[in-house]
Amino acid sequence: MSEEKKAPASRGRVAAAPLLQVDKLSKLFPVRSGPFESPRFIHAVDGVTLYVRRGETLGIVGESGSGKSTLARTILRLHEPTLGRIVFDDVDITRLPDGDLRAMRRRMQYVFQDPYSSLNPRMTVREIVSEGIAIFKLARAGAMADAMAAATLEKVGLRPDMMGRYPHELSGGQRQRVGIARALAVGPDLLACDEPVSALDVSVQAQVINLLERLQEELGLCMLFISHDLRVVQYTAHRTAVMYLGRIVEMGTTADVAEKRHHPYTRALFSAIPSLTPDGKKRLVLQGEPPSAMDPPKGCAFHPRCPSMEKGRCDVEAPTLEELVPGSHHRVACWHPEMD
Ligand SMILES: Nc1ncnc2c1ncn2[C@@H]1O[C@H](COP(=O)(O)OP(=O)(O)O)[C@@H](O)[C@H]1O
Ligand code: SF4
Ligand SMILES: [Mg+2]
Repeated sequence: MSEEKKAPASRGRVAAAPLLQVDKLSKLFPVRSGPFESPRFIHAVDGVTLYVRRGETLGIVGESGSGKSTLARTILRLHEPTLGRIVFDDVDITRLPDGDLRAMRRRMQYVFQDPYSSLNPRMTVREIVSEGIAIFKLARAGAMADAMAAATLEKVGLRPDMMGRYPHELSGGQRQRVGIARALAVGPDLLACDEPVSALDVSVQAQVINLLERLQEELGLCMLFISHDLRVVQYTAHRTAVMYLGRIVEMGTTADVAEKRHHPYTRALFSAIPSLTPDGKKRLVLQGEPPSAMDPPKGCAFHPRCPSMEKGRCDVEAPTLEELVPGSHHRVACWHPEMD
């Protein structure tokens, strides 16, 4: 990706007030090892607090299994939250019943990782993009729905003559554009893009990222942009949250997180990408695999892999996400943050 791209902090207009506010959100999945066993719980999301404003992209990064998808799905009420609160445009949607949730569902849309499995192979592009328009009764007649679908396809850079095609007749990049068009067709305010380019060829990844950035800016969308790849988030997100085993361990403007990388885990993620580590910045090589979310380690969940671990503290008491400098809005959950 080009280094000359505009820094996200200077891109577009970001509203002052949050459109989405999430407080201490948790999602536990029960798992039973046998029919008579009592369930154990996977702590997929564990006490996450965040906000996103209109016109702003929040990047969510972390290794596979860190809870990124579960967090986004729970926020969009595709999973039932276990604990905590989700407020969208001043409405508490945490326990909103299905009927009342309908209108909210239109306003919060999901773009899935895999454009191969997320599109119904028996539906044409027209049917896929128009489905939401019909469900939410956004067009009075079929011709109007068609016109809306065609206009949405144009927005994502697809010609209207693609309308009659089936997913298998499209390239990976075109399919993901259809996935984006399907989400956009219903006029959402929030778009959750879950690894939207990880299943695509490297050659088309940048095109799809640029498209999402352009749409986010033009439509003033509030966006959650999930990726395990820091490079993708770095050029796309105004702010970034780093997740580890269901918790946010560092969050701030993307520039602050990238520049300071206070949390040892954030530092390790950056260290894994040499082009993102300037000379003179201390590197940190990540040891071992992430532990299971079924039995997360006590204290700081990162302690078994952390070179700065303090015995008797890090393995006992979990650090909370705090501003190191009051008023900086750059938060870190660590007893011994990296400071060089
Ligand atoms: N529907 C589910 N049922 C049980 N466990 C799940 C389910 N979805 C995700 N998990 C578990 O929750 C944890 C977080 O998964 P996920 O949110 O998919 O992480 P990521 O998107 O960061 O890769 C993992 O341990 C995963 O196995
Ligand atoms: S709290 Fe302790 S174990 Fe956790 S990241 Fe910080 S130094 Fe490492
Ligand atoms: Mg995921």
